[in-house]
Amino acid sequence: MAIMFSAPQVEYELIREEWLNALSHLGEKGVFVGGPSVTDFEESFAAYSGTAYCVGVNSGTDALYLALKALEIGPGDEVIAPVNTFIATVNAIYHTGAKPVLVDCGTDYLMDMAQARSLVTARTKAVIPVHLYGQMADMNHLRQWAPDQDIAIVEDGAQAVGSRMDGRPAGSWGTMGCFSFYPDKNLGALGDGGAICLSSQAVTSHLRKLRNHGGEIRYVHEFPGYNSRLDPIQACALKLKLTHIEKWCQHRRQVAAWYDEYLDGIEAVTRPALILDGSHSYHLYVIRVVNGQREALKKFLQKKGILTAIHYPSPIHLTPAYADLGGKQGQFPNAERYADEILSLPMHIAMTESLVAKVAEEIRSFFS
Ligand SMILES: Cc1ncc(COP(=O)(O)O)c(C=O)c1O
Repeated sequence: MAIMFSAPQVEYELIREEWLNALSHLGEKGVFVGGPSVTDFEESFAAYSGTAYCVGVNSGTDALYLALKALEIGPGDEVIAPVNTFIATVNAIYHTGAKPVLVDCGTDYLMDMAQARSLVTARTKAVIPVHLYGQMADMNHLRQWAPDQDIAIVEDGAQAVGSRMDGRPAGSWGTMGCFSFYPDKNLGALGDGGAICLSSQAVTSHLRKLRNHGGEIRYVHEFPGYNSRLDPIQACALKLKLTHIEKWCQHRRQVAAWYDEYLDGIEAVTRPALILDGSHSYHLYVIRVVNGQREALKKFLQKKGILTAIHYPSPIHLTPAYADLGGKQGQFPNAERYADEILSLPMHIAMTESLVAKVAEEIRSFFS
């Protein structure tokens, strides 16, 4: 039996009946854009994320982009972001016209905060800590210096629904917290979706207009906006899944603990380095494989029916899309090295101890 890498279809089965009922209700009412199911989910997700407001949008990428637009970031500005992230983080900066200023990562794969601080200039308008793999970047460090210099903190919490640092949820630490509901995320929609969580009423009102052609009232357009609304059919799925999220994140932590236990003693494998507290929600469980054997291990596991992935094969500065930033090989040594060594193991709510043991056993057999 194959071991899936992620399992959005398992989650779907758990909400299927209620979701189809909700869809039928939407159809009967004829509410296909916006409406009470969207506001209901927004209120619930704001409460879950520890913020006063939530603005649902159509993807995590748009959440980041609209957050930066709401901060009036544009040409001539600089935004600091990690080089070890999904490309969407940097796409969002690029499309505002601001310059992405990239930073290497540490052994925890998260943005190197000291390096980030050293790159601040008079043009720096925002910094985007990415809570990569579900582990939160050091928000205490950032909050010690960014706000004093009028630098906004836009959390990229795309992979971090359910993560908490010092008991405080991801998305509630910065000026704004951005989330993705891509189907295999911790809280995944049944299509695209995203949200911005925040506590400023004024910025919330601006974001609601930005996502809806520049106005909240039909045909009243206060400024040029976008069409980036969260679909009600997705809001219904997300509201249903939100009731499970704590249990599911707890399960991910348990799966990670099993991996830690079963992979122990395999010298060629480096398990995730946890720098901070138990904030990790384990969107991904990422190991490193030394001696250039990552690709061979990946293929070996695939032959055994175990699906793995690489997050991400190329750091942003070496990605063709951002060649114009002038990035060079050797510029971000940690991110470059890790890109060749990392391997994400199956992680989802249907992983059991015996499946984890099986994955670990195959990895052990590859190296022996
Ligand atoms: C770190 C990170 N940022 C941003 C995004 C963008 O989210 P979306 O795919 O919903 O646009 C993702 C999701 O893939 C992500 O992993």
